[in-house]
Amino acid sequence: MALSETTRHSDAAIDSMFASLYLQNSLPKFELPEKSTPKEAAYQIISDELMLDSNPRLNLASFVTTWMEPECNKLIMEAINKNYVDMDEYPVTTELQNRCVNIIARMFHASISDKEQAIGVGTVGSSEAIMLAGLAFKRNWQNKRKAQGKPYDKPNIVTGANVQVCWEKFARYFEVELKEVKLREGYYVMDPQKAVELVDDNTICVAAILGSTYNGEFEDVKLLNDLLMEKNNKTKWDTPIHVDAASGGFIAPFLYPNLEWDFRLPLVRSINVSGHKYGLVYAGIGWVVWRGKKDLPEELIFHINYLGADQPTFTLNFSKGG
Ligand SMILES: Cc1ncc(COP(=O)(O)O)c(C=O)c1O
Repeated sequence: MALSETTRHSDAAIDSMFASLYLQNSLPKFELPEKSTPKEAAYQIISDELMLDSNPRLNLASFVTTWMEPECNKLIMEAINKNYVDMDEYPVTTELQNRCVNIIARMFHASISDKEQAIGVGTVGSSEAIMLAGLAFKRNWQNKRKAQGKPYDKPNIVTGANVQVCWEKFARYFEVELKEVKLREGYYVMDPQKAVELVDDNTICVAAILGSTYNGEFEDVKLLNDLLMEKNNKTKWDTPIHVDAASGGFIAPFLYPNLEWDFRLPLVRSINVSGHKYGLVYAGIGWVVWRGKKDLPEELIFHINYLGADQPTFTLNFSKGG
């Protein structure tokens, strides 16, 4: 095995870190250096460089949680070296994920029996959750069109022009036309009436936002549901709704429990929520939950077995820390 050559150093040089040779030159920016740097010096230099970032606790412009209880920090560090996807090796981590999915789906009024496992998955955030939900809508729509012998090459999605960039990413990455309802002076969310007018037989779903990124406003999902039901009845289409509850999903159930925006509305088929926004968890966790089994097409779920037993996965990335 080739050994790297370490720059000669004495323990004394490391003990007086700021007087040591290592801190005289900055770390290389473009290429691996010929000689290694002792870990103590590397830590000191990188930690000092990071001081130039601003202090997250002073960042009042972020939706994302910047403080957690110390016990949560401890739990994160205890689990970070477990690969979340390896369900066979880390069944308790998987069980904790499943409990979260169950609790969130029931909080959003999914109608499932007492002991039934809800359909959903933990993601890196709402963006990944939205990609997965969008793919499920696209595949369901394609399957329906194929069965009807109709063309299935021009899917579109209807949203307000106030959607977060992840919806534009979904549309571009997965080749779905984005039909945006324009905003107008004094009205900065999607107008349900105009959204329903844009729906046609190529529409895979209408996406409503609970907690617009621009101003935090909730879109009127109930009105959207009612207008879309009328249109579906007339046209015999079955256009569904996704609710992007990235910010509002952990607010509405507590502050506005009687507001109907979730699975209480029959056309709402999937919902995403960011744990790291008002779920009060550090960045790196989101969720997508589906109304029921038939809303997540089986062919999108991969079954892999090289880590042990059969493991169903439906995520964009494979490995990540527990
Ligand atoms: C409404 C909405 N949807 C989606 C996202 C993307 O969420 P994430 O950062 O968790 O990927 C955001 C982020 O600000 C958002 O406000």
